[in-house]
Amino acid sequence: MLSPLTDRQTGTFAADVLAGLSGTPKTLHSKYFYDDQGSRLFEQIMDLPEYYPTRTEALILETHKGALLESLRGDRWHLVDLGAGDAAKTRILIDCFYRGDLPFEYVPADISPYALDDLTARLRQAYPDLPVRGVAGDYGHAIGWMGRHLEGRKLVLFLGSNIGNFTEPETVRFLQHIHRTLGPGDRLLVGFDLRKEGHVIHRAYNDAAGVTEAFNKNLLMRINAELGGHFDPDAFDFHAHYDPVSGFVRSFLTSKVAQQVRIEAFDRSFGFRAWEAIHTENSRKYGLDEIEALATAAGFTVEQHLFDPKSWFTDSIWRKVG
Ligand code: AVJ
Repeated sequence: MLSPLTDRQTGTFAADVLAGLSGTPKTLHSKYFYDDQGSRLFEQIMDLPEYYPTRTEALILETHKGALLESLRGDRWHLVDLGAGDAAKTRILIDCFYRGDLPFEYVPADISPYALDDLTARLRQAYPDLPVRGVAGDYGHAIGWMGRHLEGRKLVLFLGSNIGNFTEPETVRFLQHIHRTLGPGDRLLVGFDLRKEGHVIHRAYNDAAGVTEAFNKNLLMRINAELGGHFDPDAFDFHAHYDPVSGFVRSFLTSKVAQQVRIEAFDRSFGFRAWEAIHTENSRKYGLDEIEALATAAGFTVEQHLFDPKSWFTDSIWRKVG
Protein backbone atom coordinates (compact mmCIF):
# COMPACT_ATOMS: atom_id res chain seq x y z
CA MET A 1 0.00 0.00 0.00
CA LEU A 2 1.28 3.46 -0.83
CA SER A 3 1.35 5.71 2.18
CA PRO A 4 0.11 9.31 1.85
CA LEU A 5 3.70 10.30 2.52
CA THR A 6 4.85 8.53 -0.63
CA ASP A 7 2.17 10.31 -2.66
CA ARG A 8 3.21 13.69 -1.31
CA GLN A 9 6.82 12.95 -2.17
CA THR A 10 5.92 12.01 -5.75
CA GLY A 11 4.01 15.25 -6.18
CA THR A 12 6.93 17.28 -4.92
CA PHE A 13 9.35 15.26 -7.01
CA ALA A 14 7.49 16.08 -10.24
CA ALA A 15 7.20 19.77 -9.39
CA ASP A 16 10.87 20.02 -8.40
CA VAL A 17 12.07 18.19 -11.54
CA LEU A 18 9.98 20.46 -13.74
CA ALA A 19 11.30 23.60 -12.05
CA GLY A 20 14.87 22.28 -11.98
CA LEU A 21 15.02 21.36 -15.66
CA SER A 22 13.30 24.61 -16.69
CA GLY A 23 15.80 26.81 -14.86
CA THR A 24 19.18 28.23 -15.85
CA PRO A 25 21.42 26.52 -14.96
CA LYS A 26 19.51 23.24 -14.91
CA THR A 27 19.42 21.60 -11.49
CA LEU A 28 18.10 18.41 -9.91
CA HIS A 29 17.97 18.18 -6.14
CA SER A 30 20.21 15.59 -4.47
CA LYS A 31 17.52 14.74 -1.93
CA TYR A 32 15.87 12.74 -4.74
CA PHE A 33 18.92 10.46 -5.11
CA TYR A 34 17.64 8.19 -2.38
CA ASP A 35 15.03 5.88 -3.88
CA ASP A 36 15.60 2.15 -3.25
CA GLN A 37 18.28 1.82 -5.93
CA GLY A 38 19.87 5.15 -4.94
CA SER A 39 20.04 4.09 -1.30
CA ARG A 40 21.75 0.86 -2.35
CA LEU A 41 24.26 2.83 -4.44
CA PHE A 42 24.94 5.17 -1.54
CA GLU A 43 25.70 2.15 0.65
CA GLN A 44 28.25 1.09 -1.98
CA ILE A 45 29.73 4.60 -1.95
CA MET A 46 30.24 4.37 1.81
CA ASP A 47 32.33 1.22 1.24
CA LEU A 48 34.53 2.78 -1.47
CA PRO A 49 38.22 3.17 -0.59
CA GLU A 50 38.10 6.81 -1.79
CA TYR A 51 35.01 7.80 0.21
CA TYR A 52 36.55 8.61 3.61
CA PRO A 53 33.74 10.53 5.44
CA THR A 54 31.71 7.54 6.71
CA ARG A 55 34.69 5.58 7.99
CA THR A 56 36.21 8.69 9.53
CA GLU A 57 33.06 9.67 11.40
CA ALA A 58 32.63 6.10 12.67
CA LEU A 59 36.17 6.29 14.07
CA ILE A 60 35.35 9.59 15.79
CA LEU A 61 32.25 8.12 17.43
CA GLU A 62 34.15 4.99 18.53
CA THR A 63 36.90 7.11 20.03
CA HIS A 64 34.72 9.58 21.91
CA LYS A 65 31.57 7.60 22.78
CA GLY A 66 32.65 6.88 26.38
CA ALA A 67 33.32 10.52 27.20
CA LEU A 68 30.08 11.55 25.50
CA LEU A 69 28.16 9.01 27.62
CA GLU A 70 29.67 10.43 30.82
CA SER A 71 28.79 13.99 29.78
CA LEU A 72 25.12 12.96 29.47
CA ARG A 73 24.84 11.26 32.88
CA GLY A 74 22.27 12.55 35.34
CA ASP A 75 19.44 13.12 32.84
CA ARG A 76 16.98 11.11 30.75
CA TRP A 77 17.47 11.77 27.04
CA HIS A 78 15.69 11.65 23.73
CA LEU A 79 18.33 10.72 21.16
CA VAL A 80 16.91 12.21 17.95
CA ASP A 81 18.59 11.00 14.73
CA LEU A 82 17.77 13.18 11.71
CA GLY A 83 18.13 11.11 8.53
CA ALA A 84 18.80 7.90 10.46
CA GLY A 85 18.92 5.57 7.43
CA ASP A 86 20.22 2.20 8.64
CA ALA A 87 21.74 3.98 11.68
CA ALA A 88 25.05 2.16 11.17
CA LYS A 89 27.02 4.99 12.81
CA THR A 90 24.39 5.90 15.40
CA ARG A 91 24.48 2.32 16.64
CA ILE A 92 27.96 2.98 17.96
CA LEU A 93 26.38 5.48 20.36
CA ILE A 94 23.18 3.51 20.99
CA ASP A 95 25.21 0.45 21.93
CA CYS A 96 27.45 2.42 24.27
CA PHE A 97 24.59 4.32 25.96
CA TYR A 98 22.48 1.15 26.32
CA ARG A 99 25.28 -0.88 27.89
CA GLY A 100 26.17 2.12 30.04
CA ASP A 101 22.60 2.19 31.44
CA LEU A 102 21.88 5.72 30.31
CA PRO A 103 18.11 6.24 30.40
CA PHE A 104 17.21 7.27 26.85
CA GLU A 105 14.68 6.90 24.08
CA TYR A 106 15.90 6.57 20.49
CA VAL A 107 13.96 8.67 17.97
CA PRO A 108 15.10 7.95 14.41
CA ALA A 109 13.66 10.21 11.69
CA ASP A 110 13.85 9.30 8.03
CA ILE A 111 12.18 10.21 4.74
CA SER A 112 11.69 6.50 3.95
CA PRO A 113 8.99 4.76 6.03
CA TYR A 114 10.37 1.42 4.83
CA ALA A 115 13.90 2.13 6.06
CA LEU A 116 12.39 3.27 9.34
CA ASP A 117 10.30 0.12 9.86
CA ASP A 118 13.31 -2.01 9.09
CA LEU A 119 15.53 -0.11 11.52
CA THR A 120 12.93 -0.15 14.29
CA ALA A 121 12.48 -3.92 13.95
CA ARG A 122 16.21 -4.59 14.05
CA LEU A 123 16.71 -2.35 17.10
CA ARG A 124 13.84 -4.02 19.00
CA GLN A 125 15.65 -7.33 18.46
CA ALA A 126 19.08 -6.10 19.47
CA TYR A 127 17.96 -3.86 22.36
CA PRO A 128 14.68 -5.23 23.80
CA ASP A 129 14.51 -2.64 26.60
CA LEU A 130 15.25 0.39 24.46
CA PRO A 131 12.23 2.60 23.69
CA VAL A 132 12.25 3.46 19.97
CA ARG A 133 9.88 5.90 18.25
CA GLY A 134 10.34 6.38 14.50
CA VAL A 135 9.28 9.57 12.72
CA ALA A 136 8.64 9.30 8.96
CA GLY A 137 9.06 12.47 6.97
CA ASP A 138 11.52 15.07 5.75
CA TYR A 139 13.77 17.06 8.08
CA GLY A 140 11.29 19.91 8.50
CA HIS A 141 8.52 17.54 9.49
CA ALA A 142 10.78 15.65 11.91
CA ILE A 143 12.00 18.83 13.60
CA GLY A 144 8.44 20.17 13.99
CA TRP A 145 7.29 16.82 15.39
CA MET A 146 10.16 16.76 17.87
CA GLY A 147 9.25 20.24 19.12
CA ARG A 148 5.62 19.22 19.69
CA HIS A 149 6.10 15.70 21.13
CA LEU A 150 9.35 15.41 23.05
CA GLU A 151 9.40 16.67 26.63
CA GLY A 152 12.71 16.89 28.47
CA ARG A 153 16.34 16.63 27.42
CA LYS A 154 17.19 16.14 23.78
CA LEU A 155 20.40 15.24 22.00
CA VAL A 156 19.82 15.82 18.28
CA LEU A 157 22.16 14.06 15.84
CA PHE A 158 22.73 15.22 12.29
CA LEU A 159 25.49 12.91 11.16
CA GLY A 160 27.32 12.09 7.96
CA SER A 161 27.99 15.65 6.72
CA ASN A 162 24.47 15.68 5.32
CA ILE A 163 24.52 19.36 6.26
CA GLY A 164 26.94 19.85 3.34
CA ASN A 165 24.10 19.30 0.85
CA PHE A 166 22.37 22.54 1.84
CA THR A 167 22.98 25.99 0.40
CA GLU A 168 24.12 28.63 2.90
CA PRO A 169 20.63 30.10 3.55
CA GLU A 170 19.12 26.60 3.81
CA THR A 171 21.79 25.68 6.36
CA VAL A 172 21.04 28.63 8.63
CA ARG A 173 17.27 28.16 8.37
CA PHE A 174 17.58 24.44 9.15
CA LEU A 175 19.72 25.10 12.23
CA GLN A 176 17.46 27.91 13.45
CA HIS A 177 14.48 25.59 13.15
CA ILE A 178 16.23 23.03 15.37
CA HIS A 179 17.21 25.83 17.76
CA ARG A 180 13.57 26.86 18.26
CA THR A 181 12.59 23.31 19.29
CA LEU A 182 15.39 22.87 21.85
CA GLY A 183 15.54 23.96 25.47
CA PRO A 184 18.58 25.16 27.45
CA GLY A 185 20.85 22.20 28.19
CA ASP A 186 19.78 20.31 25.06
CA ARG A 187 22.54 19.51 22.56
CA LEU A 188 22.97 19.28 18.84
CA LEU A 189 25.71 17.11 17.37
CA VAL A 190 26.47 17.89 13.71
CA GLY A 191 28.90 15.99 11.46
CA PHE A 192 30.95 18.31 9.22
CA ASP A 193 33.40 17.18 6.58
CA LEU A 194 36.41 19.48 6.93
CA ARG A 195 38.58 21.28 4.37
CA LYS A 196 41.65 19.25 3.43
CA GLU A 197 43.92 18.38 0.46
CA GLY A 198 41.95 18.98 -2.71
CA HIS A 199 42.92 15.70 -4.35
CA VAL A 200 41.60 13.68 -1.38
CA ILE A 201 38.24 15.43 -1.68
CA HIS A 202 38.25 15.17 -5.46
CA ARG A 203 38.84 11.43 -5.43
CA ALA A 204 36.06 10.87 -2.87
CA TYR A 205 33.51 12.31 -5.33
CA ASN A 206 35.06 10.97 -8.57
CA ASP A 207 35.70 7.35 -7.61
CA ALA A 208 37.55 5.02 -9.97
CA ALA A 209 34.82 2.36 -10.02
CA GLY A 210 32.20 4.87 -11.16
CA VAL A 211 29.75 4.23 -8.33
CA THR A 212 29.23 7.96 -7.72
CA GLU A 213 28.51 8.38 -11.44
CA ALA A 214 25.88 5.61 -11.25
CA PHE A 215 24.48 7.25 -8.09
CA ASN A 216 23.99 10.55 -9.96
CA LYS A 217 22.68 8.91 -13.15
CA ASN A 218 20.18 6.93 -11.07
CA LEU A 219 18.31 10.20 -10.73
CA LEU A 220 17.80 10.23 -14.52
CA MET A 221 16.60 6.62 -14.29
CA ARG A 222 14.21 7.64 -11.54
CA ILE A 223 12.76 10.39 -13.75
CA ASN A 224 12.39 7.79 -16.53
CA ALA A 225 10.63 5.33 -14.22
CA GLU A 226 8.38 7.70 -12.26
CA LEU A 227 7.70 10.52 -14.70
CA GLY A 228 7.96 8.78 -18.07
CA GLY A 229 11.27 10.39 -18.94
CA HIS A 230 13.37 9.41 -21.97
CA PHE A 231 16.85 10.12 -20.59
CA ASP A 232 19.71 8.04 -22.00
CA PRO A 233 22.20 8.00 -19.10
CA ASP A 234 25.05 7.17 -21.52
CA ALA A 235 24.45 10.50 -23.25
CA PHE A 236 25.57 12.28 -20.07
CA ASP A 237 29.01 12.71 -18.56
CA PHE A 238 29.51 12.88 -14.79
CA HIS A 239 32.07 14.77 -12.78
CA ALA A 240 32.37 16.51 -9.42
CA HIS A 241 34.43 19.64 -8.84
CA TYR A 242 35.95 20.87 -5.57
CA ASP A 243 36.31 24.64 -5.21
CA PRO A 244 38.67 25.39 -2.32
CA VAL A 245 37.57 29.05 -2.26
CA SER A 246 33.94 28.33 -1.34
CA GLY A 247 34.60 24.84 0.08
CA PHE A 248 31.85 23.42 -2.13
CA VAL A 249 32.06 20.16 -4.06
CA ARG A 250 29.58 20.56 -6.91
CA SER A 251 28.44 17.53 -8.88
CA PHE A 252 27.29 17.72 -12.49
CA LEU A 253 25.79 15.62 -15.24
CA THR A 254 26.66 17.23 -18.58
CA SER A 255 24.98 16.42 -21.86
CA LYS A 256 27.58 14.99 -24.26
CA VAL A 257 25.52 16.08 -27.27
CA ALA A 258 22.85 18.59 -28.19
CA GLN A 259 19.59 16.74 -27.53
CA GLN A 260 15.90 16.96 -26.69
CA VAL A 261 14.71 14.80 -23.79
CA ARG A 262 10.98 14.18 -23.53
CA ILE A 263 9.25 13.66 -20.17
CA GLU A 264 5.72 12.30 -20.58
CA ALA A 265 4.45 13.55 -17.20
CA PHE A 266 5.01 17.14 -18.38
CA ASP A 267 4.00 16.43 -21.98
CA ARG A 268 7.05 18.29 -23.20
CA SER A 269 10.73 18.03 -24.06
CA PHE A 270 13.73 19.72 -22.51
CA GLY A 271 16.50 21.00 -24.77
CA PHE A 272 20.15 20.44 -23.90
CA ARG A 273 23.02 22.22 -25.63
CA ALA A 274 26.19 20.15 -26.11
CA TRP A 275 28.02 20.07 -22.74
CA GLU A 276 25.21 21.84 -20.92
CA ALA A 277 25.26 20.92 -17.22
CA ILE A 278 22.69 19.71 -14.75
CA HIS A 279 23.88 20.64 -11.26
CA THR A 280 22.96 17.63 -9.10
CA GLU A 281 24.58 18.08 -5.69
CA ASN A 282 26.51 20.28 -3.27
CA SER A 283 28.76 18.61 -0.69
CA ARG A 284 30.24 21.50 1.27
CA LYS A 285 33.51 21.21 3.19
CA TYR A 286 33.94 23.42 6.25
CA GLY A 287 36.70 25.23 8.14
CA LEU A 288 36.43 25.38 11.94
CA ASP A 289 35.94 29.15 11.74
CA GLU A 290 33.00 28.62 9.38
CA ILE A 291 31.46 26.09 11.78
CA GLU A 292 31.78 28.55 14.70
CA ALA A 293 30.17 31.31 12.63
CA LEU A 294 27.30 29.01 11.67
CA ALA A 295 26.69 28.00 15.29
CA THR A 296 26.60 31.65 16.34
CA ALA A 297 24.29 32.63 13.47
CA ALA A 298 21.79 29.97 14.59
CA GLY A 299 21.94 30.84 18.31
CA PHE A 300 24.22 28.03 19.48
CA THR A 301 27.56 27.90 21.18
CA VAL A 302 30.13 25.25 20.29
CA GLU A 303 30.77 23.05 23.29
CA GLN A 304 33.29 20.66 21.79
CA HIS A 305 34.77 19.42 18.52
CA LEU A 306 35.36 15.67 18.28
CA PHE A 307 38.10 14.86 15.77
CA ASP A 308 39.69 11.88 14.05
CA PRO A 309 43.52 11.68 14.16
CA LYS A 310 43.89 13.42 10.77
CA SER A 311 41.27 16.11 11.50
CA TRP A 312 39.48 15.26 8.26
CA PHE A 313 36.05 15.40 9.86
CA THR A 314 34.46 16.75 13.01
CA ASP A 315 31.43 15.88 15.07
CA SER A 316 30.67 19.29 16.50
CA ILE A 317 28.67 19.43 19.74
CA TRP A 318 26.57 22.54 20.25
CA ARG A 319 24.45 23.89 23.08
CA LYS A 320 21.60 26.37 22.89
CA VAL A 321 22.70 29.76 24.26
CA GLY A 322 20.71 30.98 27.29
C1 AVJ B 1 25.26 11.64 2.19
C2 AVJ B 1 25.17 13.89 1.49
C3 AVJ B 1 26.86 13.20 3.01
O1 AVJ B 1 27.63 14.63 0.04
O2 AVJ B 1 29.20 13.33 0.76
C4 AVJ B 1 28.40 10.82 -1.59
C5 AVJ B 1 26.37 12.04 -0.57
N1 AVJ B 1 27.38 12.24 -2.86
N2 AVJ B 1 29.02 10.85 -2.79
C6 AVJ B 1 28.03 13.55 0.48
C7 AVJ B 1 27.36 11.70 -1.64
C8 AVJ B 1 28.40 11.69 -3.56
C9 AVJ B 1 27.01 12.44 0.73
N3 AVJ B 1 26.08 12.80 1.82
